[in-house]
Amino acid sequence: MSNRKKRYHRVGYLTGIVVSLLGLAVLLYPENNLLSAPGSMNTGHETLSCNVCHLDAKGSLRQRLQANVQYLFGNRNNPVVLGHREVGNSDCLACHDRPEDRHPVYRFLEPRYAKVRREIQVQFCTSCHREHEGKRVTQKTGFCVNCHDELLMRKDPLDIPHVTLIKEKRWESCLGCHDFHGNHIFTETNHVKEAWAENEILTYFNGGKSPYSKKRHYQALKVRSDAK
Ligand code: HEC
Ligand code: HEC
Ligand code: HEC
Ligand code: HEC
Ligand code: HEC
Repeated sequence: MSNRKKRYHRVGYLTGIVVSLLGLAVLLYPENNLLSAPGSMNTGHETLSCNVCHLDAKGSLRQRLQANVQYLFGNRNNPVVLGHREVGNSDCLACHDRPEDRHPVYRFLEPRYAKVRREIQVQFCTSCHREHEGKRVTQKTGFCVNCHDELLMRKDPLDIPHVTLIKEKRWESCLGCHDFHGNHIFTETNHVKEAWAENEILTYFNGGKSPYSKKRHYQALKVRSDAK
């Protein structure tokens, strides 16, 4: 090899190293320092500041880098933003604690929900409320099928009983009469024709008008209950 060729060779080699190091750095530092949010805030969150959810990380830099390596290998769900903890249920509950939630996420840690955990990760708020999507609910409407397919009611008040709705797989109908958390104050109708249509529910999911009542048992806090 001539000297010139050798030099090119070395430059190429070095460039290769630099490029892979840069690549590695990008992978290890996902979304770096909250410089910019990955998308529009969800409904109701438009005016919240970033640090109400993204608290400072506890771990050392090394632990966080390791967490991100684990993420690359598929052993973690989310990368951690460098310098910030992963956002979890406790962050949401710090403003949305509803003691009478009919579907509290902690219940779904029980062994009998293992399959639902695998399928829709029902144990995390963010499985149905992914943030930075400019929406309210990021789940499909019919997910009730995962737990209520054996629903039996002694005295069913509906004109088309629940067993029939379920036999006919009308899972999109459920949210037309029930909210999920039971936080809205309203009376469920007994007439399936009066149920809100799926597209009204989807409009609500996507951030639009709520078909459910404006009255609620619990309001969201604007400041975390655990804020110092
Ligand atoms: C209501 C809570 C909440 C608020 C407020 C919030 N975020 Fe997030 N953010 C999340 C959640 C949940 C994720 C998903 C990843 C996770 O769980 O850490 C996320 C992910 C991110 C990510 C991608 C990195 C990753 O870990 O996936 C960045 C960057 C980010 N947010 C920046 C911001 C910025 C900038 C703001 C302020 C404008 C902000 N966030 C406000 C909840 C929030
Ligand atoms: C600092 C307090 C705070 C934190 C932390 C927070 N939220 Fe909120 N959230 C609010 C407020 C305030 C609203 C708007 C209140 C309203 O519209 O009733 C809201 C609205 C919402 C809504 C829409 C409610 C509606 O009826 O339109 C959802 C869904 C929601 N938050 C889920 C979450 C999830 C999931 C997390 C965790 C990733 C979270 N929030 C973290 C304060 C918070
Ligand atoms: C399996 C899906 C799922 C999970 C998990 C889930 N939600 Fe929801 N959430 C929904 C659906 C569907 C709605 C719309 C129906 C309704 O308003 O109840 C909703 C509505 C909401 C609302 C607006 C109505 C209200 O109750 O005031 C808030 C706030 C909310 N969720 C917060 C949370 C928080 C906080 C968590 C975790 C503790 C969570 N959700 C977990 C599906 C889910
Ligand atoms: C991960 C499992 C799971 C999913 C998914 C689920 N539920 Fe439930 N649901 C439960 C459990 C557990 C109860 C408590 C009743 C019990 O103890 O058997 C319940 C209770 C209810 C109740 C009765 C509440 C009361 O206070 O009497 C209604 C209504 C309901 N669910 C509707 C829905 C609807 C609508 C969906 C879909 C949008 C849904 N559920 C999705 C597990 C689930
Ligand atoms: C037309 C409205 C309507 C539709 C559609 C509907 N429900 Fe109901 N549901 C009701 C009413 C009304 C009750 C009785 C409430 C009461 O007694 O307080 C009820 C009760 C329930 C209960 C409580 C059962 C018990 O033993 O107390 C569950 C769970 C439930 N519904 C789940 C579902 C699921 C899952 C779907 C979708 C397949 C669905 N509902 C569709 C109106 C509806």
